[in-house]
Amino acid sequence: MRVTMTVNGEEVTREIESRLLLVHFLRDHLSLTGTHWGCDTSNCGACTVWMDEEPVKSCTVLAAMADGRTVRTVEGLAKGADLDPVQEGFMQCHGLQCGFCTPGMMMTARALLDRNPDPSEEQIREAISGQICRCTGYSSIVRSVRWAAEHEANGCPAHGSNEDSTQVEEEVR
Ligand code: FES
Ligand code: FES
Repeated sequence: MRVTMTVNGEEVTREIESRLLLVHFLRDHLSLTGTHWGCDTSNCGACTVWMDEEPVKSCTVLAAMADGRTVRTVEGLAKGADLDPVQEGFMQCHGLQCGFCTPGMMMTARALLDRNPDPSEEQIREAISGQICRCTGYSSIVRSVRWAAEHEANGCPAHGSNEDSTQVEEEVR
């Protein structure tokens, strides 16, 4: 079958098998390998992308279901060379180690901040409760999201910051 969708602002059309999952469509047909395939059982959240502005686990969605819709992946988070504040926050606050969970965490965090620009630690933890991180521990991830929230609230440019991360962590505690 043929599917057409808008991925990170660009319309794409591909011939696919109807059983193809969205995660594999993104990775194998579009080479958007930032979306990770972790468990295939909807547990880990590493495959999280947006479909029509809503986070979805792309291992639970057929590519055919995205036909005619808008998809955003972690590759679509930055604006050109400018990182999204969430990406900057993860960098500043050590929100990742191996990075496997990170794309899904970031897509979920961005969606949270878009609907709640000032989330509490509890709200952040609830938002990422569908994501599993096997190495960082969740405290630094929560700090990363708070960093992004504080940065956006202060109207600070998130891009190209050279702030010392220890100092930043003190600010968001
Ligand atoms: Fe989709 Fe783990 S690969 S939730
Ligand atoms: Fe390794 Fe989260 S940073 S799984």
